[in-house]
Amino acid sequence: MHSALLTASCAAALIGAWALPAGAAGRLTLYCVVDEAWCQLMTTEFEKETGISVAMTRKSSGETYAQVKSEADNPKGDVWWGGTGDPHLQAAEEGLTEVYESPANADLHDWALAQYQASGGRTVGIYAGALGFGYNTELLAQKGLEAPKCWADLIKPEFKGEIQMANPNSSGTAYTALATFVQLMGEEEGFDYLKALHANINQYTKSGSAPIKAAAQGETMVGIVFQHDAVTMKATGAPIEVVSPCEGTGYEIGSMSIIAGARNIEEAEQFYDFALRPDVQEKARQARSYQVPSNKNAEPPPESPKLSDIKLIDYDFAKYGSSEERSRLLKRWDDEVSALPR
Ligand code: F6P
Repeated sequence: MHSALLTASCAAALIGAWALPAGAAGRLTLYCVVDEAWCQLMTTEFEKETGISVAMTRKSSGETYAQVKSEADNPKGDVWWGGTGDPHLQAAEEGLTEVYESPANADLHDWALAQYQASGGRTVGIYAGALGFGYNTELLAQKGLEAPKCWADLIKPEFKGEIQMANPNSSGTAYTALATFVQLMGEEEGFDYLKALHANINQYTKSGSAPIKAAAQGETMVGIVFQHDAVTMKATGAPIEVVSPCEGTGYEIGSMSIIAGARNIEEAEQFYDFALRPDVQEKARQARSYQVPSNKNAEPPPESPKLSDIKLIDYDFAKYGSSEERSRLLKRWDDEVSALPR
């Protein structure tokens, strides 16, 4: 090659490299913890708008927390988007996530900012949704059972083998259920309830929404899940009835955090701001995700269970998201509940 040409091509290569900020610019590694369809939609929309290429993986809340923790010395992810707020708070306390203040904070509901404040700016609420359960109306009719309306109904002997929920170690939904029973009934009674429920459980799944997907397929009668996930199944035409338990129930503040030491910090902040925009939050409905959005200017989907109509407990997010409490309750569940025969 002619030396002038060579010099020109070297210079071009150098300028090209120069134009890219340090690290893998133009890329984002996203740990996504909502339903797969919404994860895909967010990935595509963000790529389309920014040209940034996104490597997305979907896992459950507790699994993502464990992954972020195990990668802390060599972080691979940039943004942890979605999943229940408790493990986001635990990660914040353990310094696994970064402080970031988005200009969009000004437009968020108080419950979303409460996560931000409780974590010293390391996480923020992106949606909310109440816990409950759903059941398959056809299976219920086949067995001639009365429709369950309360948590207390789920421990009746006639529901033996008919109920599914996730494992609270991997799933934020199931951890929310555990923490809800403890807050609703008191710790000892809450664990007695979990033991009685254990006798009726046919399977503990990894993902929180799997039980209602199984109920929609007729593989289990009842799934303990977030109510919006039961609504999703109903919206697909499955014979599912959604229940807001009569005693009252807990709820989640689905959250988002930037991972400490993120390699693509600018892209991470861009995604963070994008995910808090009202027009972006409203797109959830296209993926049949019916959580209540955290931006006040985003219209909640008409299908969303209305939080104001649900008997919600005063869920103590700071306490049940603390490292000590979350680890202690999960260990107690492992030792005293999951170890029992069924
Ligand atoms: O399916 C959506 C969803 O229920 C979210 O609302 C929630 O934050 C997340 O899944 C919890 O998933 P998992 O229980 O698998 O951690």
